[in-house]
Amino acid sequence: MCGIVGYIGKREAYAVLIKGLERLEYRGYDSAGIALLDKGVFSVYKKKGKVAELKNFIEQQGKKFPPLLYKERGQEVRSGIAHTRWATHGAPSDKNAHPQLSNSGEIAIVHNGIIENYLSIKEMLMKKGYKFKSDTDTEVLANLIEDIKKNAKVSIDEAVRLALLEVVGAYAILVLSKDEPDTIVVAKIGSPAVIGVGDNEFFVASDATPIIEYTDKVIYLEDREMAMIKGGALVIKTIDNETRNPYIQKTKMKIEELEKGGFPHFMLKEIFEQPRSIGDSMRGRINANEGTVKLGGIEKDKEKLLDAKRIIILACGTSFHAGLEAKYFFEELTKVPTVVEYASEFRYRNPVIYENDLVIAISQSGETADTLAAVKLAKEKGATIFGICNVVGSSISRIAHAGLYTHAGPEIGVASTKAFTAQIAVLMLMCLFIASEKKLLNKKKMIAILTELENIPKKVEQAFLAEAAIKKVAKKFKNTENFIYLGRGYGFPLALEGALKLKEISYIHAEGYASGEMKHGPIALVDDNMPVLFIANKGSSYEKIISNMMEVKARNGTIIAIITKGDTRAKKIADYSIEIPETSDIMLAFTASIPLQLLAYHIASLRGCGIDKPRNLAKSVTVE
Ligand code: M6R
Repeated sequence: MCGIVGYIGKREAYAVLIKGLERLEYRGYDSAGIALLDKGVFSVYKKKGKVAELKNFIEQQGKKFPPLLYKERGQEVRSGIAHTRWATHGAPSDKNAHPQLSNSGEIAIVHNGIIENYLSIKEMLMKKGYKFKSDTDTEVLANLIEDIKKNAKVSIDEAVRLALLEVVGAYAILVLSKDEPDTIVVAKIGSPAVIGVGDNEFFVASDATPIIEYTDKVIYLEDREMAMIKGGALVIKTIDNETRNPYIQKTKMKIEELEKGGFPHFMLKEIFEQPRSIGDSMRGRINANEGTVKLGGIEKDKEKLLDAKRIIILACGTSFHAGLEAKYFFEELTKVPTVVEYASEFRYRNPVIYENDLVIAISQSGETADTLAAVKLAKEKGATIFGICNVVGSSISRIAHAGLYTHAGPEIGVASTKAFTAQIAVLMLMCLFIASEKKLLNKKKMIAILTELENIPKKVEQAFLAEAAIKKVAKKFKNTENFIYLGRGYGFPLALEGALKLKEISYIHAEGYASGEMKHGPIALVDDNMPVLFIANKGSSYEKIISNMMEVKARNGTIIAIITKGDTRAKKIADYSIEIPETSDIMLAFTASIPLQLLAYHIASLRGCGIDKPRNLAKSVTVE
């Protein structure tokens, strides 16, 4: 949660920072701010609201607009830090926005994370006479650094290091000090920080998106590491003062992936990218003619996968739903008992982990705090961890023993769409790999499944053909207050996911249920005002789903059904039907997800909701 960005070098910093904030806005968007430092003078701008509001505010400063102001002073702004916030400590407001300054105004800091012991530090500082203008834990850290710098008479990087030794919590911070204008300090525990290495210039950000238009050379800081960028040179050490060699990697992220490409929203662009993102997630990993699956990322640890007596999948939100869907095909094809747990629950229990348990952590961002903490806990208890992440170099991908990336490309819309189907694709490959290595599937069956899988991108294209029908349904139900989504077997996790998509972007209350559970409670909600969406494909649960549809119809409920193309029986029962191409049960998620995502999108669009940045949410949930 929260995005941080920093720059030091030869460019005019304002432009780099504001663009960086726009790229990172998916991480939080309730307030934003920038501090520019040039020749010992700080200019700080902060605003409640989205980055666009901060930008307007700054650019309407007349002669005080930073580039003009500094030109007039004969100065060139060379360094600055900026922040886009998802509030934790202190409501969204100008005063609580970052950067936060220390009492004397000497030190500016931006912070993504939570300082857990900030109250005791604040009390100690108040006794020394420090005053606080905001409600944030970040201002406490700014003053702690100032206090140490003043009393210990040390440089800014050493003051930061000593302060961090007193801090409990998670953070990625960027610090500037007025009296050392050629220095920027970055440090992290728990929250991500990436350094971009340019030609005599450095960029720092929560992810690589603000960096890639300037350089493809990046360094992912590890937990407890800090970097001092000083006079054009970079030094990395730990907060325990051990020097580290910087490991510079080349990022493959491309700038076009970060633009909307003519779509009104990133979410819509990402929905329509799925034939490509599913294809990319499988590319080079399957050979349908030979019936083989090759998974480089887990090759060296494949024995762990094959010896597993139980698979535990840990994830949150949409990634949890991908895990739930995978449970069905893992148990069907590998016969390995598979449990799926909310990471946020797993970590607060005392879970029992056996030696032969394999933990699969699924996370688009690879930074979700609860998933990361659950993975750490499972690792401590001796489990082998496989990660499935979309963001290269992310914390979960680095902490896992082995893993596979989903090659969905950057997902910017807060509502997860292409990452979900890419996760299903990768999980399916993992499942087929186990089943084939254990000889549970013969060559013929492998060839058949992989051939169907190879054709999935085309089937997804066909699922888009229902968009006109979906728009009609969206128009009809745009003012509805409640929705029920029902599915059985492979359709059940998809019902949960469809309901999540609708509620998070349209703010309509939606419940996903296993359709067999309907008669145990939810059916009481059904009346002539209640739309019930069924995932009613012609799969193994078809007859039972038809019966459930009849039960709803008998109670005057309105039925929207996602049906297999050409199925006249389900079509007759439903009030509205949306067709998807036929697939086997295990592949249902790829096609059925499309109408679920598009329905949520079009309803939210008709309701005028902020689709890519729904209220109260953030893309990467790095608080627990
Ligand atoms: O990055 P992750 O996959 O770990 O994120 C988990 C959830 O926060 C995420 O899937 C969330 O539920 C989405 N906004 C749903 O669309």
